[in-house]
Amino acid sequence: MRIGVLTGAGMSAESGVPTFRDALTGLWARHDPAELATEAAFRRDPALVWGWYRWRAAQVRRALPHRGHTGLAALAATHEVRVVTQNVDDLHERAGSIDVVHLHGSLFSSRCSDCGRRAVPEPLAAALADADEAARLPPPACSHCPGTIRPGVVWFGEALPTAAWDAALDVVATAELLVVVGTSGLVHPAAALPSLARRAGLPVIEINPQPGAIAEVASESWRCTAGAGIARLLERLDAGG
Ligand code: APR
Repeated sequence: MRIGVLTGAGMSAESGVPTFRDALTGLWARHDPAELATEAAFRRDPALVWGWYRWRAAQVRRALPHRGHTGLAALAATHEVRVVTQNVDDLHERAGSIDVVHLHGSLFSSRCSDCGRRAVPEPLAAALADADEAARLPPPACSHCPGTIRPGVVWFGEALPTAAWDAALDVVATAELLVVVGTSGLVHPAAALPSLARRAGLPVIEINPQPGAIAEVASESWRCTAGAGIARLLERLDAGG
């Protein structure tokens, strides 16, 4: 079966990566993530924003994929599984998923804010050996132009990468089932994908412990965590259901 899977922050939350909506603790508690994740914030205070992403990258590096991530990777042995994620971490890939579309970019694809070239080696990966999680950290300079390196993520107010969005539309257009895991369905355009799938006649299974906007379009809502829901999905597909 061709299975499309749309994942959101709840998928990574189960690995201990906090969502934007979680109250942050420690160093960054007094900052609003929605205000740090903007181009305006980066222009205003690059060291504040880069320091925050460096801290988030360190959290992701310490997190491990959970049974939901590994379950999806295992499912690809018997089904055609294409993952579309809103998450900027690499937990799906570390669990072994090959076909992963990152709608909101990646923490590990920093690029120049002027010329757009990728920073090599990836500075957010390299910085992690350093245990100092100081709040502020000036971003590196571009090695090709006078520009400054920025995180390779999609900030609020920015357009999604065209190739990623086209790939997500293709997943919905070609899948026979869409599974939506751990997303509130509030952030567009990703939130439109489940409705597009339903309009195309696909069954949509929602996996989320809390009801939200996706419940209105889903054909089935499973009120459980990502790990438990994906285990149930594997059981159902193994049983041929
Ligand atoms: N398993 C499944 N779902 C969970 C779990 C869990 N263990 N824990 C929390 N959730 C659900 C919450 O109930 C909520 O509906 O995950 C969802 C997270 O919602 P959001 O924080 O809005 O995340 P998301 O939908 O991915 O938001 C999209 O907005 O936060 C920004 O840029 C960020 O990519 C993100 C985008």
